[in-house]
Amino acid sequence: MAFDTLLPRPVSVTPTAGSCPWPSTVDARAASLPAEAYRLEISPSGVVLHCGDLAGEVYGRQTLRQLAGPSAFRAASLGDALSLPCGVVEDQPRFAWRGCLLDVARHYRTKAEVLRFIDLLAAHKLNVLNLHLTDDQGWRFEVPEFPRLTSVGGWRPSSMVGSGGEQDGRPHGGFYTGDDLREIVAYAASRAVTVVPEIDIPGHARAALAAYPSLGTSESYEIWTSWGISTSLLSPSSSTLDFFKQVFDHLLEIFPSKVIALGGDETPGATDEHRKFVRLLAEHLVSRGRTPMGWDEVLDIPDLPPMVIGSWQNEEAGVRAAAAGHDVVMCPEQHVYLDHRQSSHPDEPIPVGMVHTVEDVYAYEPALTGPRLRGVQAQVWSEHLDDVRRVDYLAFPRLSAFAEVAWSSGARDYAEFLPRLRDHHLPRLDALGVEYRPLDGPHPWQTRPGVPGRPR
Ligand code: ACM
Repeated sequence: MAFDTLLPRPVSVTPTAGSCPWPSTVDARAASLPAEAYRLEISPSGVVLHCGDLAGEVYGRQTLRQLAGPSAFRAASLGDALSLPCGVVEDQPRFAWRGCLLDVARHYRTKAEVLRFIDLLAAHKLNVLNLHLTDDQGWRFEVPEFPRLTSVGGWRPSSMVGSGGEQDGRPHGGFYTGDDLREIVAYAASRAVTVVPEIDIPGHARAALAAYPSLGTSESYEIWTSWGISTSLLSPSSSTLDFFKQVFDHLLEIFPSKVIALGGDETPGATDEHRKFVRLLAEHLVSRGRTPMGWDEVLDIPDLPPMVIGSWQNEEAGVRAAAAGHDVVMCPEQHVYLDHRQSSHPDEPIPVGMVHTVEDVYAYEPALTGPRLRGVQAQVWSEHLDDVRRVDYLAFPRLSAFAEVAWSSGARDYAEFLPRLRDHHLPRLDALGVEYRPLDGPHPWQTRPGVPGRPR
């Protein structure tokens, strides 16, 4: 087995002669290495893993798994003799923020599915799970002071089928208790993944409005059963502000992440009062010692504290955010929105958005450089992902290509990447039980004949 099967690609690899049996004893030693870096020395007598922190150890162990071959990704040994090639691997990530957003609001993912997704992120040396917990169609975060957020906002009676007008008439719902989320956070931390939670305000909040109409300006609201951009916004009143301060305070008790996301995107009809409302909540997070994160629409808000900006509408927004003194995570929909269709083929299931092939995602290079750029993030919005098999289909193997963008420095050449992906990495995904999109198109059972999308 050759070292070039590694994915994401490490900084430096020096092969030597021989092989080492797997599983081997790994002697993990503390070393003065940069954060997340590791050095592996593999010899016939065993493995020495040098690392400066838990993340370095996690990544060194992931690399060993990659070197051992696809069987090392199965949940139990098949009894086949695996071995590691001998040599030295020196490795460290390109970006500190190597994220993926998972939308559990539009379609709820069970706790077990979220834990599995974290495993898949860690296997790809991705380190941020941006968990989108609330939206117009569902509120997934239990807040004991406000039980209707989940008893009313946690489910809807029906969902739009694809992007047509038809409804499925089938209730959909679910939510996480505080203990569920604490468990998710701890599980992620042991795999060097930080969970950055998102409560979306002042738009994308119909589930909260349905639960507590006094947060808005109408008598009553219904949780949304359609997809799109709702014009229902939270009322920017002092009582709504107090409510959301309590909601965020409860969130902070559960999520230790320094960065906490408050949305701020897609707010048709927003006024200066709405903009002030977002600023006051951002300041509230700062007063609690956290750094607020918002989508790039918030750049229109005057006097914001320093934030992390998710640059999603285009690359230019990230450049503007950096110039205004914010840190930036590049996640432009033109490149790394994994809910967008994977080809222009008519068999692509529920085709929405732009075409982003594996090659397109692999080619992504953020327009921003310099110290304000924290990193990059892929986005898995879930309007059309009604089960976890659909998540697998849309996320993989594009997220594998993205992982190399996020981790590996230096030039990328798709012609060099493709055989590594096809011959070495897809068998690992098979062993993990990931139902990715085959490179030449969907399996028949992955198509959704007759369900309309909205290609752009
Ligand atoms: C977004 O896609 N509305 C952040």
